[in-house]
Amino acid sequence: MEKKINFQLLSIFILASLLIVSTLAKNPLFIFGDSILDAGNNNYINTSTLVQANIRPYGITFFHFPTGRFSDGRIISDFIAEHANLPFIPPFLQPGKHHFYNGVNFASAAAGALAETNQGLVIDFHMQLQNYKKVEKLFRHKFGEVEAKKRLTSAVYLFSIGANDYLSLFLTNSSILTTYTKSEYVELVIGNITSVITEIYNTGGRKFAFLNVPKIGCVPVSRISNADGECNTEPSEYAMLHNRALFHVLEELKMKLPGFKYSFYDFYTCAQQRIDYPSKYGFKEGKTACCGTGKFRGIWSCGGTRLVKEFELCENVNDYVFWDSTHFTEKVYEQLADEMWNLHSYGSHSIKELFYLS
Ligand SMILES: *[C@@H]1O[C@H](CO)[C@@H](O)[C@H](O)[C@H]1NC(C)=O
Ligand SMILES: *[C@@H]1O[C@H](CO)[C@@H](O)[C@H](O)[C@H]1NC(C)=O
Ligand SMILES: *[C@@H]1O[C@H](CO)[C@@H](O)[C@H](O)[C@H]1NC(C)=O
Repeated sequence: MEKKINFQLLSIFILASLLIVSTLAKNPLFIFGDSILDAGNNNYINTSTLVQANIRPYGITFFHFPTGRFSDGRIISDFIAEHANLPFIPPFLQPGKHHFYNGVNFASAAAGALAETNQGLVIDFHMQLQNYKKVEKLFRHKFGEVEAKKRLTSAVYLFSIGANDYLSLFLTNSSILTTYTKSEYVELVIGNITSVITEIYNTGGRKFAFLNVPKIGCVPVSRISNADGECNTEPSEYAMLHNRALFHVLEELKMKLPGFKYSFYDFYTCAQQRIDYPSKYGFKEGKTACCGTGKFRGIWSCGGTRLVKEFELCENVNDYVFWDSTHFTEKVYEQLADEMWNLHSYGSHSIKELFYLS
């Protein structure tokens, strides 16, 4: 008798676990931002080859063909989807039949939070929001109000945005560098991010995951502007101000918006660890990129369709932290995504928790 009850309890437990797992698998992943997360949207827009990665040797490691991802292989959004038991999340603009039920990737390489950042070359952040709203409408049409809302509420919204708003000022020697103070400009960027989060919240979104801005003065393209090859301090100052303000805003939103949950990943510190101490993480080279031209291979030339056509490619990409003059290798992205999935930073949730929490 006792054995039988235990057996019944066990089956109930197994059934319950299966139910939890099957509900879990339905949490969609919506992805916004820049090249750290873009899985190929820029392949399908009228833009310049300067902001596209649909050329060899991009993609050589994992896909064995260029997909539009700015790396040798998978990027952070791919690894997060993998951890969540989701398939690769399709780019919003990818032609073909997609139901988008597992989520959509709206990110666009070179995009910033401000419409002015690389304007005309990218799907800017507000346009990404408009594209999300099209999918939201599709969900309502397909599932009805109640079920659509349930899915949008259980979804995780992943963001990497801001780095291009700052880096582009230096790459173009923008007059903004002298007309705005650093904090005034950061305030505009953060203001625009806040309004996008709030709009997604208003559609039912509750689970938000953020990467902060990396130390952009230490990417190879910034290092070459210093004669001594050291990091360029000014771009990194913007990043630090931005990161402090972003964390502050997320805490404020948590107070203000019922049910708002977030994950904050300290991309700045964790990526910099690999740059400063490559051997600790299984790399041999933290400063020079695998693919590019000149000192640190810091000239934006990988693939041969940019302004400079000649480029070098390293022998063993797994030895390198940087893939090209501004992006990391798949090996770095995998390590960082594993951390994001598991780690709680500054009292925020891990992404794993966001997926599991109801
Ligand atoms: C693409 O952009 C260029 C320059 O902005 C423009 O001249 C051209 O008409 C555009 N093509 C399409 C198909 O929209
Ligand atoms: C950047 O622009 C400023 C004026 O806005 C000019 O004084 C400076 O020389 C320029 N720097 C470079 C590297 O072109
Ligand atoms: C968003 O950025 C634009 C510039 O692109 C700026 O005019 C506007 O004030 C910003 N919005 C907020 C809420 O900060």
